[in-house]
Formats: sequence, structure tokens, C-alpha cells
Amino acid sequence: MKYYLTTPIYYVNAAPHIGHAYTTIAADTISRFMTMQGYDVVLTTGTDEHGQKIERAAEATGRTPQELTDIVSEEFRKQWEVLGLKIDRFQRTTSPQHAEVVRDLFTRCLEKGYIYKGSYTGQYCVSDELYVNDAKPGDPCPECGRITETVTEENYFFKLSDFTEKVLQFHEANPNFLQPETRRNEVLAFLRQGLNDLSISRTTIKWGIPLPVEGNHVFYVWFDALTTYKSAVEGQQLDGEPLWPADLHLIGKEILRFHAIFWPAFLMAAEYPLPKRIYAHGWLLFENEKMSKSKGNLVRATPIVNLIGTDALRYFLLREVVFGKDGSFSYDAVIQRYNADLANGLGNLASRTLAMIKQYRDGVIPGPADHDIGETVARYVEAFEKFDFSRGLETIWAFISWADGYIVEQAPWKLAKNPDSQQRLDETLYTAAETLRIVTALVYP
Ligand code: MSP
Repeated sequence: MKYYLTTPIYYVNAAPHIGHAYTTIAADTISRFMTMQGYDVVLTTGTDEHGQKIERAAEATGRTPQELTDIVSEEFRKQWEVLGLKIDRFQRTTSPQHAEVVRDLFTRCLEKGYIYKGSYTGQYCVSDELYVNDAKPGDPCPECGRITETVTEENYFFKLSDFTEKVLQFHEANPNFLQPETRRNEVLAFLRQGLNDLSISRTTIKWGIPLPVEGNHVFYVWFDALTTYKSAVEGQQLDGEPLWPADLHLIGKEILRFHAIFWPAFLMAAEYPLPKRIYAHGWLLFENEKMSKSKGNLVRATPIVNLIGTDALRYFLLREVVFGKDGSFSYDAVIQRYNADLANGLGNLASRTLAMIKQYRDGVIPGPADHDIGETVARYVEAFEKFDFSRGLETIWAFISWADGYIVEQAPWKLAKNPDSQQRLDETLYTAAETLRIVTALVYP
């Protein structure tokens, strides 16, 4: 069976940082876990390269938008390589194949009567690429606090207002579609206020995909970006099943509305199947503060990986932060986890078990085992299926400390000296080795 999952596609106005890595590492973890559960997994990520924000960022660096996107998109691709992530499709929104799928979505919505031409005067937040409906000139954006800009445009509109009820009913009928629960409640509350129509084209910027209509319209960047999820696998099948719809969109909580409201509405309008699940995780903070370029507290993954390796960084991120909630990154916490959990916990169990097997049994693992690992595995699988990574890891590390206690209790160094305890020694060593084997398999994702 296929399992198709996606990360957001990242804006190319800034280089990749630990926040982007967090989502992509979690996605790769789910990909490995689902592969171990027997699925054929496809993981898509990519770069979001159009829009006003990118056009301005390019201007500021004296490059053309195409030059800037080529450079930064490549940095993202390299970052995933450095982190050892298995990316099956890397989709760029400037690819002509993607543009075709965007135009197809538009044309379908147009044919079904959900698109009309109108004029818009209102406030726009360039940073979030978001229309702020109730704002007055000079008002800040409710999402990020930056001052909105007044735009007046002849635009194509999507009849989002027609979808208030449909999207609401869909969420109500599918309580597992959007998780965690707090995010779902936010979206339900937003939907209950009713939706306004959405401008999906711009004429004031050039850096975008042209609409298949007269005039100089380019697509609103979110209409373009969301369609990546579909374009990345357009027309493709796996195990005799079409890859679309996605089984999971993994996102950060700040882009919830686009994914849980706009995207389902566009797809409903076009009569295309909806993704099966959206999971919005929390924010990674730096020492409990929001990370940002202006604060100068953006953490980059590469220097950390150079020091402690990809597995340790991955372990840290998934163990330290409860997935779905905000969590804090600090270098002290990384060192603490590295020493306590990895070097002492797992590392110590491995080195002591291997050393004893070598010393007492010439490196040959004896048998049989003393414990039943079924419950540990079941609890781990249950947690990982819910993307509750930190709890799943706790279960594994509880097993490691059990094994530590067990070794102390059995005292193989005493058993080795007594000719009558040789079978007991075999059992003890086997149990320790078997624990390591199981732990190694379970922590693989
Ligand atoms: N281009 C849009 C997404 C379009 S998806 C069709 C975008 N890009 S972004 O570059 O701003 O990336 C946002 C995503 O990066 C978040 O949703 C989240 O997955 C990840 N993160 C960026 N900073 C983060 C943290 N500080 N903490 C956790 N995740 C963060 O929005």
C-alpha cells in the first residue's frame, strides 16, 4: 500500500534553519516508521518560489527572482542531504510541469462556476502573503504584527464564501482529518464566523505563474503553492493506486488555515479528492523566544550535525519537544540529552553488553532471552502512529533503563566466576544483546 506524505514547501527568501529541518526530519521519521509498517512511502518537499515576498527579497540582494530561487532552492536540497533525509520528490514551483497543474486546478474551478472577476481594495500582508479582510490602512497583520499594505486590484476571485458550510461539514464528519485537537478547534471556530471570497490572482507583481486568461494576471502565491502537493505526484501511481490524494500533510501551526480551509475548498470546487490527514505541529523556539532573522537567534542545523551527527540531532528534536506543542531549543539541552540519553543510556548499555559478551562468551551471543518485549513494541507503535514521538522514545528509553537494572541485578561479573551459573550468564547476556537489537530497530525512524 502506498503512503504519500508532504512537508510544506519552503520560501526561498531565507536560507534553511532548524525550524525547517524540524518538520522535514519529522516527516522523514514518519516515512521510515511507515516503511517499517509495510507501506511504500513517498515523501515530497520542495521550495515555494513565487510571490511578492520573493520578488522583493531578490530586489534587495540585487538578483533576479530566478537567480535567487535557484540559489536558495539548492541550499534546501543540500540541507536535506546533509541531514540524511530520504526525499522522494523535491518539487519547485517554478517548474513548468507544476505550472500546468496549477492552471488545470484554476480551469476546473472556473468551469464549475467558482471563479469570477472582480475588484479588490484592501489590506495585504506581504510577509505572510495573506489578505487581511477586516483591516484598515495602517493596521498590523493579525498573524505577524507587520504593517499591512493597501492594494487595489482587478482580480480573479475564488468563491470561498460558498464553501463555509461544505468545509465545516467535512471537518465535522471527519474528526481525524485535522490534528491535534486544539488546531481543529481553531479551524472550526474560524469557519463558524463564515468565509469571504478570496482573490487568487495579482496584476501588481510579475513573479508568478500566468493565469490561462487575457491580461497580466499571475496566481496568488498560496493557490500556486498548495497545488505543489498534487503536482509533485500528478498522474503517478504506486502499487496500482494513484499517489494523490496525500495520506498526510505535515505542517507548522502558522499555516493551518491555508491547509485546512483554502486547500480543501479548492479541491472540492475542482472535484478532486481531498488529502486524508493534516497534522500541524508546534513551534520550535530558541530558549523560549521566537526565532527570527531580526533577533539574530536563528539556529542552523549543519554546525550541530558536524558536531554530534544527524541521528543525535534527530533524537534531540523528537525527544525534547512534545510533537504538536511548542518547545524550546537550547544548546545546553542538546548537550544534556546527548550525554544522559545517548552516551550514558543507550551508549552505555551497548558498550557494556558487547564488552561482556566478548569477555565471557568470545563474542558469540548465547540464548535464550529473559523478557517479553511485546509490550514495549506495542506501546512504541501506538505512540508513533499518533506522531507522539517523545512518548514513543520514552518507552524505548524505559526499556534501556530496565536492561541496565537487569544487568546490575544479574551481575554477570559474578556469574562468570561460578561454574554452576553458566546458563544464567548465557541468558543474561542474550537478554542484554536482544534488548540492544530491539532498541536499535525501534529507534531507526
Ligand atoms: N511557503 C510556505 C508554505 C507553503 S506550503 C504549500 C511557508 N514557508 S516557510 O518557509 O515559511 O516555512 C514554514 C514552515 O517551516 C512551517 O510551517 C514549519 O513547518 C517550518 N518552520 C519554520 N520555522 C519553524 C519553527 N521555528 N518551528 C517549527 N517549524 C518551523 O510558510
